[in-house]
Amino acid sequence: MAKASTENYSFDQKHLLGLADYSREDILYVLDQAKSFREILDRPVPKIPTLRDKTIVNLFYENSTRTRLSFELAQKRMGADVVNFSASTSSTKKGESLKDTIQNISSMKIDMVVCRHESPGVPHFLTQCVDAAILNAGDGAHEHPTQALLDMFTMQQIHPSLDGKKVAIIGDISHSRVVRSNIIGLTKVGAKVVICGPKTFMPKFVEDMGAEISYNLEETLSWCDVAMALRIQLERQGKSTELFPSLREYHDLFGIKMKHLEKYPDFKIMHPGPINRGVELQSEVADSERAVILDQVTNGVAVRMAVLYLLSGGIRI
Ligand code: NCD
Repeated sequence: MAKASTENYSFDQKHLLGLADYSREDILYVLDQAKSFREILDRPVPKIPTLRDKTIVNLFYENSTRTRLSFELAQKRMGADVVNFSASTSSTKKGESLKDTIQNISSMKIDMVVCRHESPGVPHFLTQCVDAAILNAGDGAHEHPTQALLDMFTMQQIHPSLDGKKVAIIGDISHSRVVRSNIIGLTKVGAKVVICGPKTFMPKFVEDMGAEISYNLEETLSWCDVAMALRIQLERQGKSTELFPSLREYHDLFGIKMKHLEKYPDFKIMHPGPINRGVELQSEVADSERAVILDQVTNGVAVRMAVLYLLSGGIRI
């Protein structure tokens, strides 16, 4: 595999808890490595033996479709032994603590743990309980680093250098771990980030993190190179009516519609999924040529392969 770094750079991270812990060089290095893995996915037999001596547990305490399948596929494409833990069918239901669960799993000689949990900080806590490399697959509203990496990788396919590129993130900001990881990652690589949504969804941290705020969708879409819509997370905010009057009104004010694609012909559309069709995006927009949403999903496997490879000790392939 080609060395993607500068002369004096070496990747020496042990975990991926969040992009806050990764430098600009680390992020660009992961994205560069992911290119080689993306090529492997296009081969007739998209398999390599890089992780054949590794055992990985996927520890999911929260629902997931894309992230979980994507991690599992990445692990299997690289020949790892994979075990899956789902909180809903485990001894967690019998009252076992997270620490006991992870120490028991770890006694089975696990090399890496991929963890999704509803509480922020759980991946960090796991680093104190076991020796394995820990990969955060989403912790509450804190970080979702592999999602932001795959988003950046997809943006790079459109704009190879993200320096100065204009990224709009639109939607349910206050509940989103995706937005936090994206602001951190994108600003580190020099992109400009505007966050757009209703005032009730706009947390204070946005400006402190180096992004700008807009409450005007038209203005935002006329400015951006990429528009990333985020799901309205009804399950995290209780009754939707507490934060905005109705889904229909949200769609009227902040939903991306075909008329916007016609008016502003350049920006691409992204969404981490799952999409509420007719809310964040008009259904035709999600299916249009301008959307790169399924590319994000394919790229997610490559990016996760790159992260697994680097955190496994980076045996050359
Ligand atoms: C996101 C998540 O779970 O944080 N989805 C994902 O990982 N693809 C966003 C969401 O749930 O809306």
